[in-house]
Amino acid sequence: MNVKEITEGVYYAGVNDRVTALFEGLWPIPEGVSYNSYIVKGKNATALIDTVRIDEVREFLNNISRIQDGRPIDYLVINHMEPDHSGSIPEVVRAYPDIKIVGNVQTIGMIKGFYHIFDDSRFLEVKDGEVLDLGGKTLKFYLTPMVHWPETMMTYLEENGTLFSGDAFGTFGALNGAVTDCEMETDRYFPEMYRYYANIVGKYGMFVQRALARLVGVDIKWICSTHGPVWHSRIAEVVDLVDRLSRYESEPGVVIVYGSMYGNTAEMAEEVARGLAEAGVTNIIMHDASHSSMSRMISDAYRYEGLVVGCATYSMRLFPPVEAFMNAMETREIKNKVFAAFGSFTWAKGAVGSRMDEYVARMGLDSVGYVVMKQTLDDESRAAARRLGTEVAGRLTRK
Ligand code: FEO
Repeated sequence: MNVKEITEGVYYAGVNDRVTALFEGLWPIPEGVSYNSYIVKGKNATALIDTVRIDEVREFLNNISRIQDGRPIDYLVINHMEPDHSGSIPEVVRAYPDIKIVGNVQTIGMIKGFYHIFDDSRFLEVKDGEVLDLGGKTLKFYLTPMVHWPETMMTYLEENGTLFSGDAFGTFGALNGAVTDCEMETDRYFPEMYRYYANIVGKYGMFVQRALARLVGVDIKWICSTHGPVWHSRIAEVVDLVDRLSRYESEPGVVIVYGSMYGNTAEMAEEVARGLAEAGVTNIIMHDASHSSMSRMISDAYRYEGLVVGCATYSMRLFPPVEAFMNAMETREIKNKVFAAFGSFTWAKGAVGSRMDEYVARMGLDSVGYVVMKQTLDDESRAAARRLGTEVAGRLTRK
């Protein structure tokens, strides 16, 4: 049971999930995930901030009960309605029948839709910038739409400088005993923060930037996200990381994602990689799209400056695992990549060339060009593939 006082009057009431294999039914979470919830105790009233996924409700209610020691809860603040955080609302209402649910107009509409709680007297609607006084603990609400859903907001506890940030600054990875970054080694969460951001929030960079702009000048001593550690000692690093990701700012490196049925396109990938290495690129990440997880491919492609896609032709189209990856990148509106492609065909020419042209145009990528091979590598296509790697290297701003 994971109950802890984080800062005076602020308690952790969240739970871990080490059972779910795929977060959102899509993203592997081998290290689990935490669903974070918090309690803020004022002199006059107590607020619970967010709930947890319904599967963990028994432990969650036990945590609340231990913190409250039989006392009621006055308010349930809902920063985000995705069911990994809102799923236990009906059970909280059942356990604390007088509780008032605090949210913005969109939150309240979603609660009615998801959980069929229709009694308007149950809700306290708040607008951007409004405050709720708990008695020596003042909650201020910042509406931050599309970080990650339209109703998302953040709640700032003024007296303690504590930001309850919803999904923002979150990460995969359960909490192994400790809750705050002051009491654990947090390096292992950082790669997962990239993956979490790229997989879950990646499409909404512009909105994350707007939210960050809203928070300029706000004195933040604690960041209490809905997933992962509570940030205190590493706030500057975490904010900087999310700022860079949401500006689509890349790190040095090139990702090669390829799909190959019988190894010929894979051989091209090796030549491209060799060309990159010979040109001085030291950080080259390769993914065989048939075997790598989509989650990691997206995360790496998001993170590094260069993206090279290689693809066999399949029934006149792109090889399906590669096409799925490219669609995922397009869904996330990935920007600012040095891009190149290579591919193969046996008898029907064209899948890589024409499809990639359309893709590059739609995405506004900085394209170095394509190399296409018929059937298998010969001296000419081998040299061309290697040269493609060299040319991508020449286009990078940093190696
Ligand atoms: Fe962790 Fe968008 O929910």
